[in-house]
Amino acid sequence: MRHLLSAADLSRAEAIEILDTTATMAATQSREIKKLPALRGLTVVNLFFEDSTRTRISFEAAAKRLSADVINFSAKGSSVSKGESLKDTALTLAAMGADAVVIRHQASGAPHRLATSGWVRTPVVNAGDGMHQHPTQALLDAFTMRRHLAGGGEAGPDGIGRDLAGAKVVIVGDVLHSRVARSNVDLLHTLGADVTLVAPPTLLPVGVHTWPCAVSYDLNATIADVRPDAIMMLRVQRERMSSAGGGFFPSPMEYSRRYGLDGTRLAALPEHCVVMHPGPMNRGLEISAKAADSPRSTIVEQVANGVAVRMAVLYLLLAGGTETEGSR
Ligand code: CP
Repeated sequence: MRHLLSAADLSRAEAIEILDTTATMAATQSREIKKLPALRGLTVVNLFFEDSTRTRISFEAAAKRLSADVINFSAKGSSVSKGESLKDTALTLAAMGADAVVIRHQASGAPHRLATSGWVRTPVVNAGDGMHQHPTQALLDAFTMRRHLAGGGEAGPDGIGRDLAGAKVVIVGDVLHSRVARSNVDLLHTLGADVTLVAPPTLLPVGVHTWPCAVSYDLNATIADVRPDAIMMLRVQRERMSSAGGGFFPSPMEYSRRYGLDGTRLAALPEHCVVMHPGPMNRGLEISAKAADSPRSTIVEQVANGVAVRMAVLYLLLAGGTETEGSR
């Protein structure tokens, strides 16, 4: 594997290799000595042009637990605010001896540009670009589902395979602005899961009907018809709506009434169905506190699994593994 730019670049075998390596990494994290020597002497640069809590901290934790040195770069407070370009920022970091670059950027395609430009000659990991992709989020979501729905990696009681083939996943909310939704649809389709997107028509992208998933505007009907194994609530991205000049339609109250996961909808889900959210959450808008804090919620576990997934990705990129499409 040379880069990880998009969940769509991963073959089924590559995705399963990452999920299996994640399981190994997660096992090390439950031990007293968490640190592995795998990346000793290497430097990982975290390049964050957009805000992040979970992804930034977990990439830092992942690199450190593999004994790499970490340089954290945040656009805020850097020379980016003086107008420095992505190219000059990348050349500066390359000159400081980066062995891998993790990048989050508000512009869709920025990680791809970095990987193909020759500005850096190291592996590039996409930590979220605009409304495009967030591949490590999709991997940690798949890993979390596999733990709950597929017997921790073996075939599950409901016939869901270790690859999630046959799992029914419903993704609800602001699909239009969501790189998490795009990445999950790509990865879950590759793994053989059945995905249904549920959103108001105003929060669905043009062309969504060509995606490898079903689309619905009715959450209550979807819960009843699909009987999901996992339901993933998406954050309503109000900041992207205002920056795009668009309004929030339907209104927050109407959105919550029609698309929010409240106590009634929580009770209507199959008993084994897990409740997921990538975070950060708008409690009371797309998800109620009752649902977010319920025993079937995996939201905190997703964050913990994010460290193990990012350890696996950095390990496979820097210490050997397979090639993804995006690397060729
Ligand atoms: N899920 C996610 O990407 O969260 P952060 O924006 O906090 O990294």
